Parts: sequence; C-alpha cells; structure tokens
Amino acid sequence: MCLSVLAIISCNKDDGYTGIPEDKPFNFVIPENFPPMAQDISGNSPTEQGVALGRKLFYDNKLSRNNTISCSFCHEQAFAFTHHGHDLSHGIDNLLGIRNAPAVQNMAFQSEYFYDGASNGIQLLSIVPIHNPVEMDDNLSNIASKLAMDDDYVQRFQSAFENGEISSSNILNALAQFMTVMISADSKYDKYVRNEPGGTMSQLELQGLDLFQSKCATCHVTDIFTDSKFRNNGLPINPNLNDLGRETVTGFERDRYKFKVPSLRNVALTKPYMHDGRFGSLESVLNFYSNGVQQTQNLDEILQQNGVLGIPLTENEKQAIIAFLKTLTDETYINNPLFYEKT
Ligand code: HEC
Ligand code: HEC
Repeated sequence: MCLSVLAIISCNKDDGYTGIPEDKPFNFVIPENFPPMAQDISGNSPTEQGVALGRKLFYDNKLSRNNTISCSFCHEQAFAFTHHGHDLSHGIDNLLGIRNAPAVQNMAFQSEYFYDGASNGIQLLSIVPIHNPVEMDDNLSNIASKLAMDDDYVQRFQSAFENGEISSSNILNALAQFMTVMISADSKYDKYVRNEPGGTMSQLELQGLDLFQSKCATCHVTDIFTDSKFRNNGLPINPNLNDLGRETVTGFERDRYKFKVPSLRNVALTKPYMHDGRFGSLESVLNFYSNGVQQTQNLDEILQQNGVLGIPLTENEKQAIIAFLKTLTDETYINNPLFYEKT
C-alpha cells in the first residue's frame, strides 16, 4: 500500500519529483570586474548539494587525526577566513606552523595556492592542510572511513555525487565546490568600479587608488589583487624560520625568498600580515614598503628601480593607500549565511 503510494509520487512527472534529489547547479555569479576564472571547474561545477556538503566538511573537526581541528579553526569567516590573532597558525595538539593563514576567498580566480605554491589546483589543495603534521595530520582514506559511520554524510555524498561514494576524491570535490563559490566581490571598491549604489569613494580613497595603481598594482594586479606569481618583496629574513618560500617547492635557488603575492581583498580584516604575520597593522606594512625593503637574494626588480630600494611614500600617501585598502572590506562576504557553519 505504502509502496504504491510512493511509486505514484515518484512517477508523477508533473511536479518533477523523482524521489532522487536533483543535481541542482549552484547559482553563483562571476563578478563582471573579475578576470576569467583561473581554475577549470568544468569537471566539478558546484551544485547545491555539493556546496552544502563542502561547507559541512569545512567546519568539521573529523577532518583531523584526533577530531579536534577543522578548516574553520584557522579560517574564520569574520576575518575573511583567516586565523585571527595568530601570526603563525597553530593546529593539531597546539603545534605551531611556520606561516600565517591567508584569506580564503575567490580561490577559483587564482592559479597558485599557499605562499610557496605547494598546490596549483583548487581540486586538490585541501590535501595540503589535511596531511600537514602541524595542521590536521590526517589522511583522506581515514577521514572517509570516519565519515562513512555518519548517516547524514552517507546521504549527503549520495545526493551530491553521481557515484555517491564517500571517497577521497569526493571529499576534495566537495571542499573545492565550496571554495569555488566563496566569492568576495561586494566591497565599496567593487561598487565603485561597477558603478553601483554605495560605491562613492572619498577624495582620500581615490587618491589612494591612484597611488596603488601606479605603485603596487604591478604585483597586486586585477580586481583579485594578485598576479598569482612568486616574488621577493624584500622582507628582512626571519632567522628563526628561515623560510625559503617558493624554493621549498621547486628546489631552485632562484626561487629563494619568493612568496606568492597575496590578494589584498578584505586586507583590513586579515592582520597580521606577510607569510609569517610579522606586521600587525597596515601602517607597518606601508612603512616597510617605504623604508624597510632589504636587498636580499632575488629581490624583485620592481622594488629596486633606479637604485632606490622599495617604494618611497610620504605620510599622506601612506594614509591615502590605507584608506583605499579599507574600501576592499566586503561586509557581505563576512556575513554571508551561505558560508556559515550549519548544524
Ligand atoms: C592549523 C591551521 C589551518 C588549518 C586547520 C587549515 N588551514 Fe588553510 N592555511 C593555513 C595556513 C598557515 C596557510 C598558509 C600555508 C602556506 O602558505 O604554506 C593556509 C593556506 C590555505 C589556502 C591557500 C590560500 C592562498 O591564498 O594561497 C587555502 C585555500 C586553505 N588554506 C584552505 C584550507 C582548507 C580547505 C582547510 C581544511 C581542509 C584548511 N585550509 C585547513 C592554516 C590552516
Ligand atoms: C614586487 C611585487 C610587489 C609590489 C610592487 C608590492 N607588493 Fe605587496 N606583497 C608582495 C608579496 C610577494 C607579498 C607577500 C610577501 C611575503 O609574505 O613574504 C606582499 C604582501 C603584501 C601585503 C600583506 C598581505 C597579507 O595578507 O599578509 C600587503 C598589505 C601588501 N603587500 C600591500 C602592498 C602595497 C600597498 C603595495 C604598494 C605600496 C605593495 N604591496 C606593493 C609583492 C608586492
């Protein structure tokens, strides 16, 4: 009796209900001021179910060896998904890492991840924190077995993926889908460039934008604010860490002390700054570019033009650039319920 009722419902084409959840594409818009996506997501385009699963995984401690650390532990939404208050991130067993956690936003528009480019695919990048012995220290097949014991996950994987499997690749796929839709493009600056309401910039902010375009935008380029390249911006070497940067991945000495140019979106929320979180304020960053740049190995050409080290700036120019950088704060992004933890 019951069965036939179910059969009737599931065969009723009029209301489109089939009994099997549909793969509903996740509705997201590519901001018109953005460059083209740098990642090919065609094999794993976001669906409603995939994104929801990715979000659940992002907030789940089960992604770590002893079930204590989630991605969100170090990537907090209120701070554009950075680890607030930490120069170097600490993870499992309170172990200290060697780098500052960057913002997670607009990832599909970037072609390199991590300060040294340890990954260049949104599809695979989650392996890096999951395997890192001082971050989550787990592995995907172990995580898959843990998730398989949870009915909610069993259902969610079934509805999100064609093969329905709780597998390493589907875990990575779901996280990638979630990160693909984490788009920040609603700051005052965005409204200004797209000529939308709320986009009126002050004189100081406009002066800052002008200065930024002439002095900073070679590296912090496009409306993603990075060229996704590795460069040495002349930070004094931190002898405690002696982080070689890109060389760690390539093994080439010509890559020593080069780090990925970070995006500057939401930068007013993401202190402390640089790969080791050495600067606590934007003022310190601007003071550094103005008179702290050091002639270290592989210092970028742009920062040593005509025998001048760094980017000399007056106090007023620094204030203008900071005023501009603050227009990159995107309240919509950090308050967007799509990216909240859901229970
Ligand atoms: C223990 C803290 C910690 C945890 C947990 C953590 N991260 Fe991170 N994350 C970091 C740090 C630190 C970096 C920078 C590392 C580097 O550059 O080598 C980073 C970098 C990233 C980046 C690269 C951003 C960029 O602009 O290049 C992404 C994306 C990211 N994490 C996503 C995740 C995801 C997804 C998870 C969960 C699977 C996760 N993280 C777990 C601390 C953490
Ligand atoms: C030669 C390329 C280059 C130029 C020019 C440049 N930057 Fe950078 N910037 C970088 C690199 C590379 C890093 C990351 C360095 C690191 O962490 O080791 C960085 C980091 C930063 C950070 C820290 C971001 C974070 O999340 O930690 C800020 C803020 C910043 N730059 C602002 C500026 C401003 C403002 C200007 C112009 C006055 C400027 N940059 C010019 C390459 C450049």
